[in-house]
Amino acid sequence: MEFNNLTVEISQPIATVTVNRPNVLNALNLETVGELGTAFSMLEADPNVRAIIMTGAGEKAFVAGADITEFRGKSAPAMIPFAKKGHDVARIMESMGKPIIAAVNGYALGGGCEMAMACDIRFAADTARFGQPEILLGLIPGMGGTQRLARLVGLGIARELIYGGEQISAQRAYEIGLVNRVFPLEQLIDETAKFAHKLAALPSHALKMAKLATNYGYDQSLDNGLMLETQCFAHCWSHPNLEEGVAAFLEKRKANFHQD
Ligand code: COA
Repeated sequence: MEFNNLTVEISQPIATVTVNRPNVLNALNLETVGELGTAFSMLEADPNVRAIIMTGAGEKAFVAGADITEFRGKSAPAMIPFAKKGHDVARIMESMGKPIIAAVNGYALGGGCEMAMACDIRFAADTARFGQPEILLGLIPGMGGTQRLARLVGLGIARELIYGGEQISAQRAYEIGLVNRVFPLEQLIDETAKFAHKLAALPSHALKMAKLATNYGYDQSLDNGLMLETQCFAHCWSHPNLEEGVAAFLEKRKANFHQD
C-alpha cells in the first residue's frame, strides 16, 4: 500500500514503518496519523509480518510532535478529533498481537514521544531527545502523553516533564525507564532489527499472549490482571508449539516452532 507520509517496508518477517516528512522533522499532521492507523492495521493482518519497527526519516527526528502548522486558527471541536485519532492509533498499536519496537533516531517530542510510548519497546540513538513540550504552546499532551508517561516512568517524573516541557537526553530517558536501550546513532537500526528478528523467531502465539496479558492487565486490579494472565496462559496450552518447545528442551535440541 502507498502512503503520502510514511514508508512501509516489509522484509519478512520484519516490517519497518518510517514516518517520512523530514522537512518538518516528521511532524504528525492529521493525514499522517490516519496513515499510521492504516499501516499498523494492515501489518497486523499480514501473516508474513511478526515484528514491527517504527522510526523516522532522516537522522534528526523520530517525530517532532504534532504538526503545529495545523493548529493555527483551530478550535477545540476541530482538534478533538485529531487527538482522538491519535488515541485510536495508539490503541491499535497496543492491542495488536505483534511487538512494535520504536527506533528513536532523534527528536521524539510531543506526539513523537506519545507514539514511541505506544510502542512495546523503545530503543534510542544516543543523540535522541525526548519531551512533552506542549505546555510551551499553551497546550497539554493530547495523544496519550498525560496517561502513558506516568505509567512508564511514574507520576512524579511525568509531572516534571509535562508541567515543565523540558527536553531530556536519551541517557536520561534510559535512566527513568522511558527507553529500554541506547545505541550510537549509526548502530540503532541494526540493533533494533537484530532484536526484532529475535522476537520474530519466538513462538508468535506466546508472544501475542504475553503482549495482551501485560498491556491489558496493567490497568486492572491485581485480581483481574491475574485472571487475564490465567486465560492467556491457558491459551498457550492449546497450541502445539508448547509441546514442541518442551520436547526440544528435554531432548536438548533447537525447537522447530510453527508460526501462525
Ligand atoms: N510541527 C510543524 N513543523 C515543525 C515541527 C512541528 N512539530 N517541528 C519542527 N518543524 C519544522 C520547523 O518549523 C522547521 O521548518 P522550516 O525549515 O520550514 O523553518 C523544520 O521543521 C526544522 O525545524 P527547526 O525548528 O528549524 O529545527 P531545530 O533543529 O532548530 O529545532 C526542534 C528542532 C525539534 C527543537 C524544534 O523544531 C521544535 O521545537 N519543534 C516543535 C516541537 C514541539 O513543540 N512539538 C510538540 C507539538 S504539540
